[in-house]
Amino acid sequence: MDQRKRVLSAIQPTGDMHYGNYFGAVKNWVDLQEHYECVYGVVNYHAMTMPFTPKKLVENTWELIFNLIAVGVKPDNLFIQSLVPEHAELCWIFNCFCSYGQLSRMTQFKDKARQSEESSEGFISAGLFDYPVLQAADILIYRADYVPVGDDQDQHIELTRDIALRYNAQVGKTYFVLPEGLYTEATRVMSTADPTRKMSKSAGEKHYINVFSDPDRIRKQIRSAVTDTGDTPSGEMSPGVSNLFTLLRAAGRLPEYDALMDHYVTGSLKYVDLKEAVAEGLVSLSEQFRARKAETVANKKDVKEQVKASSAHIRQRAQETIREVKELAGLLNVKF
Ligand code: AMP
Ligand code: TRP
Repeated sequence: MDQRKRVLSAIQPTGDMHYGNYFGAVKNWVDLQEHYECVYGVVNYHAMTMPFTPKKLVENTWELIFNLIAVGVKPDNLFIQSLVPEHAELCWIFNCFCSYGQLSRMTQFKDKARQSEESSEGFISAGLFDYPVLQAADILIYRADYVPVGDDQDQHIELTRDIALRYNAQVGKTYFVLPEGLYTEATRVMSTADPTRKMSKSAGEKHYINVFSDPDRIRKQIRSAVTDTGDTPSGEMSPGVSNLFTLLRAAGRLPEYDALMDHYVTGSLKYVDLKEAVAEGLVSLSEQFRARKAETVANKKDVKEQVKASSAHIRQRAQETIREVKELAGLLNVKF
């Protein structure tokens, strides 16, 4: 049996992958593959909680698979959530181990409920409310030790731990280990157009940098990044400048980071130099990603088959857990 610690993470197929996702979470997914047993999901059931169309959902699912492979995730570690329907079954069981009150306090729910209300005639699905319970099922069904995510997912991980504790108490056995979040240095990348809000797709195109962008677009976005708006208290680094330094460091440009930070400290930093360094760091990463994406897409038929096979393989672990969970909870079971 594999004795390595287990890592689980997931991302929704809802469009482009940006540098907030990459530096905040997905880069960690790639690095962790060296030392842990890793399972990474494309969570299409979660993507149905906001307004969607079936055509876009299936397109985005494959697109995200190609994107993840292009940035370095191994196809054998990937699964598509709807190919492992046990997640939904475990979600139901966990619904009964989670309080309505706690779900009502989830900030992601409150934010998305507001967005959903604005964009779709006031329709807020019960799925959106229940989303964190499905996320807990994603994590616990693989008995994961670690969950690499951005820090906006803290609250969901805490809820997952609470569900695990309540389940364990109810069945009288320490069945689930309590998972922990794993964070990168860049736990929160901000929008370059408005560094007071986080980089995200939902805020619109100018608020995120697609990891597969062409060099011109990246340079343009970084050139127009907000630096100093004059309202930062003296002696403090402004959010825009701080975010550019975060990006530079995350892009692995450490010598430039140190040199430019020295300039900042001595008051001789020129923002154009900082922007230039950040743009070149991102351009060179994006060029590698674009090349790998082209290769992946050129083999897309094989890639799809491979990910269907890895999903079936990963499903076996989920089936083992669900069988034990039902047995412990007093639910009649089928034999797989
Ligand atoms: P999302 O795009 O919101 O579905 O997020 C996918 C993953 O990327 C999650 O682990 C998030 O925590 C992470 N993430 C999203 N936006 C950012 C950001 N601006 N900075 C850091 N991490 C992020
Ligand atoms: N809620 C996560 C996000 O918004 C996505 C997600 C779903 C997830 N299931 C998960 C992340 C399980 C980690 C583990 O990014």
